[in-house]
Amino acid sequence: MEAFQVLSELLEGDLAQGGRNALPLVGRDAEIEELLQAWERVKAGRGQSVQITGEPGIGKSRLALELIDKIGLRDDSIVVLQASAQHQNAPLHPIIRRLEQRIGIRADEAAEVNASRLCEFLARVPECDPETPVLIGQLLALPVPQPATATLPDAQELRRKTRECVVQLLASPANGDAGLILVEDFHWLDPSTAEVVERIATGIGDAPILLLITSRASAAANGSANIRRIPLHRLADADCRNLADCAVADIAGDDYEPELEVDLFSLMSAFQAVVQRARLRPKVLLPPEQLSVDTRIEQLLARLSETEACGFDDLFADIAERSGLIVTFLALLEMIRLKLVRVFQSGSFGPIRVYKRSRPADAPHPIGDPEGHRG
Ligand SMILES: Nc1ncnc2c1ncn2[C@@H]1O[C@H](COP(=O)(O)OP(=O)(O)O)[C@@H](O)[C@H]1O
Ligand SMILES: [Mg+2]
Repeated sequence: MEAFQVLSELLEGDLAQGGRNALPLVGRDAEIEELLQAWERVKAGRGQSVQITGEPGIGKSRLALELIDKIGLRDDSIVVLQASAQHQNAPLHPIIRRLEQRIGIRADEAAEVNASRLCEFLARVPECDPETPVLIGQLLALPVPQPATATLPDAQELRRKTRECVVQLLASPANGDAGLILVEDFHWLDPSTAEVVERIATGIGDAPILLLITSRASAAANGSANIRRIPLHRLADADCRNLADCAVADIAGDDYEPELEVDLFSLMSAFQAVVQRARLRPKVLLPPEQLSVDTRIEQLLARLSETEACGFDDLFADIAERSGLIVTFLALLEMIRLKLVRVFQSGSFGPIRVYKRSRPADAPHPIGDPEGHRG
C-alpha cells in the first residue's frame, strides 16, 4: 500500500488557486453586465447583495472571478468565505479560516505568538470595540487576556456579541474603499455563518460593499428580500462548442484555429468560389436535370448520414450544372434553417465543414410538412 505525507494545505477561498481564468469566459455577457452595474452602485455608496444560483459546475465561481478581474479589485478589498461540505457542522468555520488567513495565524507557532498577532491586527482596525480582542481570541482559541473589569456574559449573550463583532470585522472594508464579500457555496454554510451573512445582507445599504453569494438553486439565502438574483442557465450549444474549441486550442498550442459557426457572408463567399471553379470545368452538353430543393435535401442527408460531417465543397462534388449548384446551396440554407445541419469554419478563412445534427425539439418544420417527418 502506498503511503502519502501531507506537505502543505491549500487554503480554501484562495482566489489564486484552482486555475483562475484558465480559459476565456464564454457567453455570460448579460450576467457580467448586471454585476458591473451592481458594482457601480456600490462605488456610489449603496451596498448591494447579489446571489448567483445554478447547478454545480455551471460557472458561478467563474462569474464571480470574472467580475473581480474586470473591476481590478485588490486582494485586500476582498473577503472570501468558502463553505464546504465537510464543515457544515463546524460553527463559523469559513469565518475562522478567513480571519486566520488575514491575521497570519500559523498552526506551527505558539498560541501566545498568534495571540499577539491577533491583537496587533485588531489594533489597526478602525473603531474596534474594546471587547473585540477577547471575543475573537475565544473564537480562534487564542489566549487573549481578559481586561480585569470585564464581566463574563452568559453563553447566549456571548454568541450574540461574537456575531456582531464578526459582522463588523467583515463588513469594514480596507481603507474605506469599496469592497467585496464573496460567499462561496452558500448551500454548505453552517447555520452560524449563514446568520452572519444574512446580518451583513440586512445592514448593507449604507456600506460600500458588494455581498456576492454563490449557491445551488436548491438552497438560497432567504433572509433578506433585497438580494438580487442571477440564475445561471446552461450555455447555448454554440457557446459550449466554442468553449470546447478553446480547451482544445489550449492543449494543442497557438497554431490551432477553433471552428466557429459560419455567418452567411462566409457561406456566400464559399459558394461563389464553387461557382467560379465550375465555370472553369469543360461544359457538358446534356439537358439540364430538374432537381428540386427537397430532393436535394434528401440526397445530402443520405450522404451525411454515412459520414456525420463533410466539407462544404463536397456538397457540390456530384453537380456540374450551374442550376444544380444553386439548388444545392438553397438546400443547404434550408437544412440550416430546419436545424438539420450545423456549419462551422476554422478561423476566418479556413475550411468550412457541414455537420449533421440531431434535430432539436424546437426546430422549425419544413414548409408543407407541418408534422416534420424529416430528420
Ligand atoms: N462561461 C464560461 N466560460 C469559460 N469557462 C467556464 C465558463 N463557465 C464555467 N467555466 C469553467 O468551468 C469550470 C466550472 O465552473 P465553476 O465556476 O467552478 O462552477 P460552479 O462554481 O458553478 O460550480 C471552471 O473551470 C470554470 O472556469
Ligand atoms: Mg463554485
